[in-house]
Amino acid sequence: MKVTKICCIGAGYVGGPTMAVIAQKCPHIQVTVVDLNAERIAAWNDADTNNIPVYEPGLAEIVAAARGKNLFFSTEVDAAIDAAEMIFISVNTPTKTYGKGKGMAADLKYIELCARQIARVSKDNKIVVEKSTLPVRTAEALKSILDHTGNGVQFQILSNPEFLAEGTAVPDLMEPDRVLIGGDPSFEGQKAIDALVAIYANWVPLEKILRTNVWSSELSKLTANAFLAQRISSINALSELCEKTGADVNEVAKAIGMDSRIGPKFLKASVGFGGSCFQKDILNLVYIAKSYGLHEVADYWEQVIIMNDHQKRRFSGKIVRTLYNTVADKKIAFLGWAFKKDTNDTRESAAIFVADDLIYEQANIAVYDPKVSEERILADLDYLDHRAIDKNKKRVHSYYDPYAACEGAHAIAVLTEWDEFRDLDWQRIFDSMQKPAFVFDGRNLLDGATLKEIGFVYEGIGS
Ligand code: UDX
Ligand code: UDX
Repeated sequence: MKVTKICCIGAGYVGGPTMAVIAQKCPHIQVTVVDLNAERIAAWNDADTNNIPVYEPGLAEIVAAARGKNLFFSTEVDAAIDAAEMIFISVNTPTKTYGKGKGMAADLKYIELCARQIARVSKDNKIVVEKSTLPVRTAEALKSILDHTGNGVQFQILSNPEFLAEGTAVPDLMEPDRVLIGGDPSFEGQKAIDALVAIYANWVPLEKILRTNVWSSELSKLTANAFLAQRISSINALSELCEKTGADVNEVAKAIGMDSRIGPKFLKASVGFGGSCFQKDILNLVYIAKSYGLHEVADYWEQVIIMNDHQKRRFSGKIVRTLYNTVADKKIAFLGWAFKKDTNDTRESAAIFVADDLIYEQANIAVYDPKVSEERILADLDYLDHRAIDKNKKRVHSYYDPYAACEGAHAIAVLTEWDEFRDLDWQRIFDSMQKPAFVFDGRNLLDGATLKEIGFVYEGIGS
């Protein structure tokens, strides 16, 4: 089957950039991205592509070039499903907040809704591609819904997990380490895989496109994220030991990373990992292991999350302890709120948890993040803690200018590694702060020696 029309359900951090790049690389394919959220679609269609809802370096340009030609954003879900030969599902799969598996299992209600909608609308055979990260065996459930509620048409289900990291989505999509496609071993299943391979082959070398069965593909995505997160928790565990013993975690990371078997990436000690995937995927893995009675396996992976929670709490605890055991009514400036640099995404950002702890201690928090709005910050805090909304509002303010955020502050906490923080006029900041002036560098981003020369008390992670 030669695909000429693609539909993607879900115009989020995965669906939006992925489809934009497919549209750019495949001018012969019409790509329509649909979403239930009309506001989000309107933002994707904003005349000024700098206002699209996902900030990713390079993305606005790609959208500007393809939109209206072969890239469309729409709320007309049924029409787009009907027209497409291939449908990507890229809706969010949050951790369940209710019922069985609460706090652990993925909530698949959006996936099921999508499946039922596809089944209802489809009048001819379709290939359905799981792009969202899903628990192993979700494809089976998808297939069952499609086959039993459809109009008698044939569906092939593929698993094609997306490995892009936010902040580098465009280069990750342009030059992926690999593309993974899982499908049914049957003749029709292999044909469906061929159709998806043909799309990626427009820009990805064939030897980087892997074919597996569906379950291997689903499990590989969870495993990749679990391994990455495990590295961060491993180095973060060492960071606490370094702080006690006088070793420097940056030096340790460099020394071990030069072993080619270990490798240098993902060894940066930090205030803890965030993002929409790591925690959710590991919890998923833990839940699956438990559901098969594999308690040692479950406990092993759960420790990665336990370590990460500890690292976040340890950071806020250190701020309070260092500021003479009280931060009540003190101004603490936060540099950064996003879960990493070069994104406006704040899901599971360490900043939220650190702020929550400090608000509990009645601190006032002044946030500067170049891409995150005050509205978003308050929504993140209100979501985490149901204390009166006014309370967060009273304690937390955001600033458009880092100098204003730091002025009069007792301490600065670096929560996101935005490059621009390195180039601030640190002397000017020092002069405007309460003394002693503290910097708690949750990203080991700044040059501690220079800051100490200026007069700051500097505390990095793991040194
Ligand atoms: C991604 C992946 O798809 C998910 O597997 C991963 O675990 C988290 O990252 P992401 O694109 O980041 O999701 O999520 P989000 O930015 O929330 O986008 C999902 C979109 O789907 C939203 O815009 C939402 O409105 C839309 N949606 C959700 C629908 O259109 N229909 C639904 O039924 C549910
Ligand atoms: C991750 C995976 O990298 C990606 O392949 C998958 O598709 C989705 O999940 P993402 O969450 O977007 O991507 O960002 P990532 O770069 O992995 O960073 C996750 C978190 O780990 C961030 O909070 C980041 O700051 C933190 N991190 C990363 C560290 O603390 N130290 C490191 O060395 C690397």
